[in-house]
Amino acid sequence: MSNQQKVAIVTGASQGIGASLVKAYRDRNYRVVATSRSIKQGSDPDILAVAGDIGEPETADRIVKEALSRFGRIDTLVNNAGIFIAKPFAEYTVEDFTSKIATNVAGFFHITQRAAAEMLKQGSGHIVSITTSLTDNPTASVPTVLANLTKGGINSATKALAIEYAGKGIRVNAVSPGIIKSPMHPPETHEFLAALHPVKHMGEMSDIVNAVLYLESAGFVTGEILHVDGGQSAGH
Ligand SMILES: NC(=O)c1ccc[n+]([C@@H]2O[C@H](COP(=O)([O-])OP(=O)(O)OC[C@H]3O[C@@H](n4cnc5c(N)ncnc54)[C@H](OP(=O)(O)O)[C@@H]3O)[C@@H](O)[C@H]2O)c1
Repeated sequence: MSNQQKVAIVTGASQGIGASLVKAYRDRNYRVVATSRSIKQGSDPDILAVAGDIGEPETADRIVKEALSRFGRIDTLVNNAGIFIAKPFAEYTVEDFTSKIATNVAGFFHITQRAAAEMLKQGSGHIVSITTSLTDNPTASVPTVLANLTKGGINSATKALAIEYAGKGIRVNAVSPGIIKSPMHPPETHEFLAALHPVKHMGEMSDIVNAVLYLESAGFVTGEILHVDGGQSAGH
């Protein structure tokens, strides 16, 4: 089994941090299942694109089924798909709430459950989720209760799952970013967002990719919420 090429699933893979993660795992010679709603199959036969809404259990079923039928195994799941809606708490709509729960929470639950079932059969695996440092460090100037509710839940679930699977060969971790220069944030917001970090600049997508790759190779690390946030979690 050890000489087989490893397989990673990356959600939210069409752009931003997810697209960078796909490239990084390919550079490490993993075969990759790249999924998002709009993703299209490219020319690399070792990247399988599976399109679908990650909040739907049917999408998770399809991702895992196609991963196994094409590549035969699942070694890593990167839960990267997510949406961000910042507004004062009283202004959140029912649609805001529903979409955040669907993408961030159901989008974690369904695919993690199905990928974990395969990892349990293999007796090995790594699950890593991208959360946000805002869960530990709320900022008065950027109210984000729905990010806290959803990503904070994933941070906690990461620790619970790490403990549940600690004796089963499966590690479970999270990367908790500060604010990262990705398509999520238009350039005109960057100066304001940079100032929210003690280091006075935003993070790069490569900062998050490097953290995920570190966790990938860190065999003694599980249940870790790795802050990559320009000092936000240390203080202000
Ligand atoms: N950028 C930051 O400052 C920052 C900070 C902290 C945490 N994060 C987290 O990092 C992750 C990646 O962020 P990013 O900055 O790269 O965001 P992004 O550029 O907006 O990309 C989001 C990705 O998620 C996919 N996605 C969104 N809704 C989906 C759904 N319902 N089903 C399937 N895929 C869906 C999108 O693809 P489709 O549109 O094709 O579906 C896209 O590939 C997110 O979880 C985000 O919360 C980002």
